[in-house]
Amino acid sequence: MRMVDLIEKKRDGKELTTEEIEFIINGYTDGSIPDYQVSALTMAIYYKGMTERERADLTMSMVKSGDQIDLSKIEGVKVDKHSTGGVGDTTTLVLGPLVAAVGVPVAKMSGRGLGHTGGTIDKLEAVSGFHVEIDNEEFIQLVNKNKVAIIGQSGNLTPADKKLYALRDVTATVDSIPLIASSIMSKKIAAGADAIVLDVKTGAGAFMKTLDDSRELAQAMVRIGNNVGRQTMAVISDMSQPLGYAIGNALEVKEAIDTLRGEGPEDLTELCLTLGSHMVYLAGKAGSHQEARELLETAIKDGSALESFRVFLSSQGGNASVVDDPAKMPQAKYTFELEAKEDGYVSEIIADEVGTAAMLLGAGRATKDSVIDLAVGLVLKKKIGDKVSKGDSLLTIYSNFEDVSAVKEKLYKSIKLSSNHVDAPVLVHEEITK
Ligand code: URA
Ligand code: CA
Repeated sequence: MRMVDLIEKKRDGKELTTEEIEFIINGYTDGSIPDYQVSALTMAIYYKGMTERERADLTMSMVKSGDQIDLSKIEGVKVDKHSTGGVGDTTTLVLGPLVAAVGVPVAKMSGRGLGHTGGTIDKLEAVSGFHVEIDNEEFIQLVNKNKVAIIGQSGNLTPADKKLYALRDVTATVDSIPLIASSIMSKKIAAGADAIVLDVKTGAGAFMKTLDDSRELAQAMVRIGNNVGRQTMAVISDMSQPLGYAIGNALEVKEAIDTLRGEGPEDLTELCLTLGSHMVYLAGKAGSHQEARELLETAIKDGSALESFRVFLSSQGGNASVVDDPAKMPQAKYTFELEAKEDGYVSEIIADEVGTAAMLLGAGRATKDSVIDLAVGLVLKKKIGDKVSKGDSLLTIYSNFEDVSAVKEKLYKSIKLSSNHVDAPVLVHEEITK
């Protein structure tokens, strides 16, 4: 087989066979096929697309390029949740202990990464002593015992995707639905999930800005999952503004605690119940989505969801008393209010920009060597549709430095007021099962 012939085949809009896709991915992973040929191929895919069969084959070739996590020693159906990213998305912190509380095993592999705030692991490190440096055996034991545990990302998961994603990043080929869908799904499948619930974000703060694009991505991923034997469904949810109120590491852990206690923000609570009920249903723990939702609501009401979080934290070395006293987590030295300059209704909270403001405070990493300040961030006081009077606080800034004028300036540009009434955005747009 010659790579040049395969590039030509895709360039002319023809379908690559399973063997051809495997040849490409194996050759790229071991270095026998160079970047320049693969970049020509990804550009051809960008223009010509891939069939459903090609997408499934690409995904599985990438899965096989590295380690595959074996979760077969964990009892029950392992359901993983993946979010396509957003600002202040606290769902993972809530969903782990919440679905575990109704008996669904959550074996989470997570990373740190770049972004407006840290990843799930960074956030949890706001709890003193908490660590994810556990070996596979301990990880499996913990999930069997407590139904939830989290482990750091294995170094050799989907190396083909790592290389391909980096190449796409510099060749203007990230924005291709078949390539995005297979990239995301390969990582979930290699991490050992039996079933997958996807939270595809849509709106200004999301990777996919329009509902049409979000639907296309959701359908592509759902089909890949189901075609390779992992039950998969997607929820398309709003990211036109940040989810919940808190954006920051310790601040989001506190928000997760509030939500598990039944006192969290309405939108975050609702999205967690929606995603959670799909996870519980796919795990076979309820006969209907309604029944699954009721189980989760009960776990919040009777305290078992919060107890599950305590057990999860202490099993991995964390000081679980933060659940009753969140002030034991790192606290910012200063707080400032961002006051409305006029009366009106909040019409826009540009999630990306608000996220960048949190990063300027130190809540996220700008480069992979940056050190995160776990204490700092933002807590919104108003969301889209809320009425405000001049002087009301729009949000609170938690900072470890005193001069936040640049942060305030950025925030004023990203929160818009209108003199007319504005409706709150729809939270869950669609649910996609095939
Ligand atoms: N996220 C991924 O993991 N892969 C992509 O291709 C795009 C977003
Ligand atoms: Ca949040």
